[in-house]
Amino acid sequence: MRFLVTGHTGFKGAWLSLLLSSLGHEVSGIALDPLPGSLFERARVGELLVDDVRLDIRDAAGLRSAVADSGADAVIHLAAQALVRESYRDPRTTYETNAIGTLNVLEAVAGASGIEAALIITTDKVYRNVDRLEGYREDEPLGGDDPYSASKAMADILTQSWVKSFPGVPTAIARAGNVIGGGDVSKDRLLVDLIAGFTSGVPNPIRRPDAVRPWQHVLDCVSGYLALVHAQLAGNADGAWNFGPDAGNYQTVREIADAAAAHWGGDAAWVDDSHGEHPHEAALLTLDPGKAQAGLGWRNELPFPQSLVWTLDWHRSVESGADPRSVTLRQIEAFTALRSVPWLEGAQWR
Ligand SMILES: NC(=O)c1ccc[n+]([C@@H]2O[C@H](COP(=O)([O-])OP(=O)(O)OC[C@H]3O[C@@H](n4cnc5c(N)ncnc54)[C@H](O)[C@@H]3O)[C@@H](O)[C@H]2O)c1
Repeated sequence: MRFLVTGHTGFKGAWLSLLLSSLGHEVSGIALDPLPGSLFERARVGELLVDDVRLDIRDAAGLRSAVADSGADAVIHLAAQALVRESYRDPRTTYETNAIGTLNVLEAVAGASGIEAALIITTDKVYRNVDRLEGYREDEPLGGDDPYSASKAMADILTQSWVKSFPGVPTAIARAGNVIGGGDVSKDRLLVDLIAGFTSGVPNPIRRPDAVRPWQHVLDCVSGYLALVHAQLAGNADGAWNFGPDAGNYQTVREIADAAAAHWGGDAAWVDDSHGEHPHEAALLTLDPGKAQAGLGWRNELPFPQSLVWTLDWHRSVESGADPRSVTLRQIEAFTALRSVPWLEGAQWR
């Protein structure tokens, strides 16, 4: 199979590209340049790709020809301005990239030949948040109080309307929550900032220690994306799908920060900055993963403590000189050995 991954230079995109390539698939990518020190660079992901196109998805004409030239069987659209805080700084770029960029992807997929499935990645933040503990189900109303959440809800609604208005390539939507894993370098992400604080010795300020999130290892999340594409190719998986951990894995930011500091050891610490001035972010947001569990046979494999240990160990190994690609591939191998599922076996794809 040949996969086209948009956003392949980002955090999830690099993990997904390495997973796909380790399963024997061909991968091509469309994205902006990677951030300095990114997993994409450190694990030399570019060497494994059949095509590595650097293009702004707001460029509709450029995207149409890049998608048509990709020869892809399936497209996974991850490219986005993915940070809430950055969306307050630059709302226009966030809306244009996340909403209009998704329209451009849908148009480009419709105009290409040979694509059998398209998967649009949105987020748990698309749900209209009423601060309740129970997870949101796929048929509940969407909303978005900050520019990032609203832009992704726009992408989600746009995709739903596109599918109804212009049926053609089977197109589904995947919604997942906050992911953790080795090699993330984006600013304002909890574990990235915590690890930077542990290694520099300057404890990181935490702005919302009591926020609750359905934390998930990036491999569980991208495994969900592959489960969905695998089912799309079998012809029965349109619509929106949540990929989140079970309720037992909900954690407060404080619990995560404490557990991370304890596992890191030494003087590792963080500081409570909840009294500072911060833009609005949801305090509580969880997903009901029942549809993906029943409909796809997907489930979250790594309990939260193990996800945290894998993430911290990735950083420790790499900081002490191990090759980032080897460390990442070892974790991919360990993950795929946890349970035998068709979408994580290369031979099961055609
Ligand atoms: N990381 C999380 O916790 C999380 C949670 C929920 C949803 N998501 C979603 O998952 C997807 C991937 O997130 P990530 O964490 O890997 O983000 P990331 O910021 O690490 O990567 C973003 C990717 O999108 C690309 N991109 C950004 N703007 C672009 C543009 N205008 N044109 C072309 N490419 C562009 C970047 O080059 C990069 O490859 C996003 O759609 C994001 O909204 C992420």
